[in-house]
Amino acid sequence: MLFVGVDLGTSAVKLLLMDENGKIKNIVSKEYPLYFPHPGWSEQKPEDWFAQSMEGLKELLEGFDKDQVKGISFGGQMHGLVVLDKEDQVIRPAILWNDGRTAKQTDYLNQVIGKEKLSEYTANIAFAGFTAPKILWMKENEPENFAKIEKIMLPKDYLAYRLSGSFCTEYSDASGMLLLDVEHKCWSAKMLEICGITEAQLPKLYESWEVVGTLKVEVAAELGVSEDVKVIAGAGDNAAAAVGTATVGNGGCNISLGTSGTLFISSKKFGVDKNNALHSFDHADGNYHLMGCMLSAASCNKWWMDEILKTKDYPAEQAGITRLGENHVFYLPYLMGERSPHNDPSARAAFIGMSMDSTRENMTQAVLEGVAFGLRDSLEVARSIGANPERTKICGGGAKSPLWRKIIANVMNMKVDLIESEEGPGYGAAILAAVGCGVFDSVEEAAKKLVKVTGTEEPDSELVQKYEERYQEFKKLYPALKGFFQKKQA
Ligand code: XUL
Repeated sequence: MLFVGVDLGTSAVKLLLMDENGKIKNIVSKEYPLYFPHPGWSEQKPEDWFAQSMEGLKELLEGFDKDQVKGISFGGQMHGLVVLDKEDQVIRPAILWNDGRTAKQTDYLNQVIGKEKLSEYTANIAFAGFTAPKILWMKENEPENFAKIEKIMLPKDYLAYRLSGSFCTEYSDASGMLLLDVEHKCWSAKMLEICGITEAQLPKLYESWEVVGTLKVEVAAELGVSEDVKVIAGAGDNAAAAVGTATVGNGGCNISLGTSGTLFISSKKFGVDKNNALHSFDHADGNYHLMGCMLSAASCNKWWMDEILKTKDYPAEQAGITRLGENHVFYLPYLMGERSPHNDPSARAAFIGMSMDSTRENMTQAVLEGVAFGLRDSLEVARSIGANPERTKICGGGAKSPLWRKIIANVMNMKVDLIESEEGPGYGAAILAAVGCGVFDSVEEAAKKLVKVTGTEEPDSELVQKYEERYQEFKKLYPALKGFFQKKQA
């Protein structure tokens, strides 16, 4: 039996083929453009996602026995607003998770409706990238588009809709819309009223491993697979990544170093921190999780390498970095503003502390360290409410760098467990497909059986101490610059 996991990312869609023993048989990646039509805005065309996913699927399955394909599922970039009209046409480009245009609507929700009320209705407060503020933005700025809305969906749910015709979502991704009552797993009537939408415009809710339908006849024919291939609901990319690293059940921790950077703590118990600095969401295993999300993580390094140093050889740039914990340069990783914990779309990136003897290596090291410090900010919030994981898994493109893993282990003072594959969301999605097809009884059982730890990066007490001192300095930088950032954006 073969299962397909689709990781609908921000830079590309990554498709992964897995057998029933969890062995990865093939991986294919297809890119699509990302548009920044105004500073701080971030959009993509849903039609590009579908076209590239279909191309990728064809390539993925080439040379395999297509009759063996039994199920397909998804891990998708979260929070994106996809809107369709009554002819099922996309009304406008999707507004993505790292889009910062909704500062006004986010303030309205947090200040006028009030954080307490939002937290009571949804278990979360408003962040600029969440879906509800984007709906309000559309209502205010594009009333003619808003009036046309027949269906509201999340990015990966658009794929499921095009593949199966099923208008569906699931709890983990729906949690990031600020429309779901996360604790009770239903749409919040109050939030729908605040946003001026109705439940009929929203997809049907499923658990991540549930079957939402089968492939449309024409899609199955184009791919050369059976019409009985099951489409399984899937998860937001972070919940899918957590499944793909076996961060399930109680007290697991996963760090994802993709375009965004996340700290994900799984829990069987529902909970929120008192300032709602971390997101409190449903998990793809049927339980809950807490999550901190940095908007720019591996993308900081990608920007620094590709756009500034103009190199593709990341390992060569990192090879000269030998003095960990001793860098005099600091980097603030806020290229797209910041979500957790600052909730400030106006924040921007900065290098601080250079002198005439600063080197290229110091700057590269500062970028890697700045992202690790940003993740540590979320860990501090988790620690403040008693969640203090001793070890974490790690996945995403950035996890390929041994140096970055070492920096993270020491900045966080956590053991970092390496798993066989860093393809978190795609692998997790394939696991969800296998569970949906009945190969396993539960997501927890499947993940624990299939995911293998291959090594551990242990923190070193001397380095931990050095990084502790640097983190204490890093922590003072954003508050010192906050007023400047906000004035620049006003
Ligand atoms: C999570 C978040 C990001 C995106 C990236 O809240 O916004 O991790 O899901 O794809």
